[in-house]
Amino acid sequence: MMRPMKLAGDQLMFGEGCLAHLETLPFKKAFIVTSGRILEETGILPKVREHLTNAKMQTTTFYDVEPDPSFNTIMAGANEMKKFNPDVIIAVGGGSAMDAAKGMWIYYEHEELSTLEEILPPNQFPTLRNKAKMVCIPSTSGTASEVSRSIVVTDNVTGFKHGLGNMEMMPDYAICDPLVTASMPKSLTAATGMDALTHAVEAFTSNRANHVSDVLAVSAIKDIINNLVNAYNEPTNLVYRENMLNASVVAGMAFTNVSLGIVHSIAHTLGSYFHVPHGLANAIMLPYVIRFNMLESQGKKRYQELEEQLNLSSIINTIEDMNKKMNIPASLNEIIKDEDLFTSKIEEMAAMSLKDGCTKTNPVIPTFDQFKYIIKAAYHKELIGE
Ligand SMILES: [Fe+2]
Repeated sequence: MMRPMKLAGDQLMFGEGCLAHLETLPFKKAFIVTSGRILEETGILPKVREHLTNAKMQTTTFYDVEPDPSFNTIMAGANEMKKFNPDVIIAVGGGSAMDAAKGMWIYYEHEELSTLEEILPPNQFPTLRNKAKMVCIPSTSGTASEVSRSIVVTDNVTGFKHGLGNMEMMPDYAICDPLVTASMPKSLTAATGMDALTHAVEAFTSNRANHVSDVLAVSAIKDIINNLVNAYNEPTNLVYRENMLNASVVAGMAFTNVSLGIVHSIAHTLGSYFHVPHGLANAIMLPYVIRFNMLESQGKKRYQELEEQLNLSSIINTIEDMNKKMNIPASLNEIIKDEDLFTSKIEEMAAMSLKDGCTKTNPVIPTFDQFKYIIKAAYHKELIGE
């Protein structure tokens, strides 16, 4: 039986200028979470503060979220929240800032919790919103954490990335203003955009896919194919920026309900072992995984349906062509230079990918040996299935 769908929190805003919606929010103390000073320098954070001040809110800002946020960062932010006592948390940034803010929220709401294990299964996920609501303002078009119930947290001791998902973590307000994404550098536009494309493709081929997630996924894929390379080439064109942000949100609505597949399992693993940025890992892995999934009839059928709906002769060729146009490497050896080290970790990486939460919804569940094969092929640029 299908699982219940939820497409966003209480309010979803999109379109140029919708940042001003902040002025309508009924809160008094806003705790802003962001990654570094970049959005301060681009004028986004001053704008956010201006809207909050107009709404007579008091604000403070936590800047120290690193890429792939760690549990220690989450606890540091939660401790700051306990001092400030906000009734609203506002994440402004990419996936790292939003995921970290959602994580901080848990430990701010529940002072009795102090470890990551306490919120991981089989423990019950804590209830939120007793102290604060969550607002997400994405500055990239990819992660869709603004409409997702999940976060990725890096364990400080092991370096492993833990993906956690629970409906409680769906942000209450998603404010998706393309002006906030306009200052993204080209490489980030490419990587986060390919993350969004991977969300949509993996949602479509998920073995939990349903009619609504298919409609959302196909729409997002179409928009990303038609806009991403243009947004990369013309960063100041707001039409491409807006189409990409909307597509990323729509892809998020699909995947947060039906989950993903092994492109994400392997990307999480590559992030844990070699710090490969998430979107870049997805972009490189996607064609290899599609080739692998197409070796089995049930996988092949879904991609053929997708190609039919998109009127494409080959989804693989389309993705490879987009990667090439955005200077994304075709294999992992272009970004992980130490071949001996990589080879020595393949077994561990295959084991970790197999255990990843996204593996169980891939259209074909690979064996441990098949994971090794896919990871090796993507490193050496070998053609899967040959
Ligand atoms: Fe992703």
